[in-house]
Amino acid sequence: MNDNPKDPTRRSLFKILGSATAVGVTGSLLPSCNTEKNGKQQSLTFNEIPQTLDFAHHFPVGYRADILLRWGDPLHHGENNFEPEKLTPKSQQRRFGYNNDFIAFMPLAPEVLSAQGHIHLRSKNSHRGLLCVNHEYTQPHLMFSGYNNEYSATQGVTADHVAIEQAACGHSIVEIEKGKDGWQPVTDSPYNRRITATTAMEIAGPAAGDARLKTHQDPSGTEVLGTIGNCAGGKTPWGTVLIAEEGFGGAFQGNPELIEDAREAVNHRLFGIKAENRNWGDYDRRFDIQVEPNEPNRFGWMVEFDPYDPQSKPRKLTSLGRFEHEGFTLVCKPEQPVVAYGGDDDEGQFVYRFVSQHHYQPDNPSANWQLLTEGTLYAARFADDGNGQWLPLIYGQGPLTAANGFRNQADVMIDTRRAAAMLGATPMDRPEDVETNPHNDCTYVMLTKNKKRGSDNLDAANPRARNIAGHILEIVPPGVKGNRDHSSASFQWQQFLLGGNPNAENPAERGAYGQQSHYDISSHGWFANPDNVAFDPKGNMWVATDGCERFGFHDGLWAMATEGPLRAAPKHFFGCPRGAEVCGPEFSPDGKTLFIAIQHPADARNSTYDQPLHRWPDNDPKLPPRPSVLAIYREDGKEVGS
Ligand code: FEO
Ligand code: CA
Ligand code: CA
Repeated sequence: MNDNPKDPTRRSLFKILGSATAVGVTGSLLPSCNTEKNGKQQSLTFNEIPQTLDFAHHFPVGYRADILLRWGDPLHHGENNFEPEKLTPKSQQRRFGYNNDFIAFMPLAPEVLSAQGHIHLRSKNSHRGLLCVNHEYTQPHLMFSGYNNEYSATQGVTADHVAIEQAACGHSIVEIEKGKDGWQPVTDSPYNRRITATTAMEIAGPAAGDARLKTHQDPSGTEVLGTIGNCAGGKTPWGTVLIAEEGFGGAFQGNPELIEDAREAVNHRLFGIKAENRNWGDYDRRFDIQVEPNEPNRFGWMVEFDPYDPQSKPRKLTSLGRFEHEGFTLVCKPEQPVVAYGGDDDEGQFVYRFVSQHHYQPDNPSANWQLLTEGTLYAARFADDGNGQWLPLIYGQGPLTAANGFRNQADVMIDTRRAAAMLGATPMDRPEDVETNPHNDCTYVMLTKNKKRGSDNLDAANPRARNIAGHILEIVPPGVKGNRDHSSASFQWQQFLLGGNPNAENPAERGAYGQQSHYDISSHGWFANPDNVAFDPKGNMWVATDGCERFGFHDGLWAMATEGPLRAAPKHFFGCPRGAEVCGPEFSPDGKTLFIAIQHPADARNSTYDQPLHRWPDNDPKLPPRPSVLAIYREDGKEVGS
C-alpha cells in the first residue's frame, strides 16, 4: 500500500481477491483500444491526494482552485451581492443558478466580434470564453429559510419560492476570462444569459407537432416553456451546446392512475410522476398532470442552443429520443455522418447512439444546424462474448408497429424506453456519461450503480447482482485507431474498470481494473460510482464520481490512462466537501485549466438552510452552502495533470 499519497513513485500491487471481478470478455476477442502496449511513461505526474471526508475541497500541491461562480452570483450589472433572504424570482433570473452540473467551455476568438460559433471554437482561445453550465435541480430546504427537511420543503413551498426555483434551474451562459489574478466572470457581458424552466423553446424533429405534445398553452405541439433536470450534455463543432433533461418526472405532480389514456398513465409512472412530488403544479398548473396530461411528454429530451447568440431560441431534439438523458456527446469527422452517444440514467435502462442522415461539413454551419434533427437512434445490445449490436428505433421495423401501440415515429421517440426494450437492448446499471476518447477513438460508458439487478439477471456487461460501486465499459467500433467506424451496425466491447475497493472483504464492494489492467495503484487510487467523464488533450480519462461517501470518503476526480502500461490505473486528483458530487469536468483547449462543478454541497440528513452541515465555499454565517464552479490550474502554468 502506498501510505504516502504525496509520493507517486511508491506504488504497490493490489492483490486480487475473489472471482466476481473476473467477468468480462475472453482474451480471444479482446478489441484493440490499447494500442500502446509498451513504452509510454505515465503522463499523470501530479501528487495524488488522499481519500478524506470533511468540509473542504482538496487538490494537489502546486495547483490553484479559483471559486469562479457560485449560486446567486450576479451575471449582470445592477444586481447586488447575493443576499439569499432578499432573493426574488426576477433577481434569480439574472444570477447564476443552483446545483451546477455539466460544463462546456466555448472559446471566444480574440478581437473577433459577432463571429459564428465554429470560428470562435477554432480559435482554441484558452483565456477567454463562454462557460455554459447546467443547473440540474433545486433543493428548497437548502435554498430558503424555514423548511425543516427536504420532504416538507418539496411538498409545500410558497408561490414565490416555486418561481425562484424555476428561475434557478436550467442553464447559465457566462463570459469568463483569465487575468493575472486567475479566472473571473465578466459581469454584464452581452453574452451572459440564463435559460430557465420558463424560457421559450422550439420542439424539433420527428415528434414535433404530434398530438401527444399538444397542450392548452400550445395547441401546435411545437413550442414549450423551459427545460429542467439538466444533468450532463455535449457540444458540437458548429458551436452549439447540447443539454440533457434527466430527472424531469419529479417536477410533475398528480396521479397517473387518473389519466384516461392508459398508455400515458404507464408512460408517466415510468418517469416517477406521483402525487407526492414537489408542488410546482399548485402555482404553475402545467406541472399538474391532472390539468395538463401531455406536459410531461414535452420534457425528457436533449436541448440544443447557440451560446454565441444570446437572442437564439433553444430547441428540443426529439430525434434523440425521450428518456432520463444523462447527455449526448459527439464524434464528428468531415464529410461523414455525425455520431452521438448517450445514456438513460436509470436502473435497467439503455445506452443509445444517434447517426445523422446528412454529413458533417466543417465550413457549412447552417447545414450542420440540421444534423441532429434527422437521423436514426439506436439502442445497444451487449452480447456476453464481447460483440455488440446497435438496434435501430425505426417505426414499422421489427416490433415497433401499430400492433404494439406505436402509431408513427413520434410514438417511437416519445416512448423510447419501451421501444428499446422491445428491440432487446441490454438493460444496464444506470448509464451516465458516454464519451469518446479522441486519442484512441474508443467510447467509454460510465455505469454508476444498480442495487436492483439481482443474481438472475447478470450478464457480462453488468456482472454484479448488487452493483453498489459501478463500472466503466469500453466500446470499440470496427477499424483502427484514428479511423474507427462509429456508424457501423456492430462493435466490440470489454470491461475497462470495475469500481470499488480491490481489497474490500465484501464482494459487492470489491472491484478490479479492466482486462488490460491495473492493480498498481495507491490506496487512494480506487473509486466508486463513475458519473461524468472528460478526456484531456493527451487522452487521459478523468472520471467524476457520485456516491463515494457511502464508502467513507469524499466524491471527487480520478485520472488515468486508457492506453499503455498504466491503462486503467487511476490516481486521485480532487476531493469534494461533504455532501457534494463533482460534475462537468471540462478542459480548456490547451489543457491548462480544468473546470469542475461542485453540486449539492452539504446535502446530508437534517442539513437545512437554517442549520446546514457546513457553509462551503464561503464559510460565512450569513450564507448557506452554495453549489459552485471551480477553475483549477497549475501554479507554473503547465498542463493540468502532467
Ligand atoms: Fe444527473 Fe445522471 O446524474
Ligand atoms: Ca450526472
Ligand atoms: Ca449525479
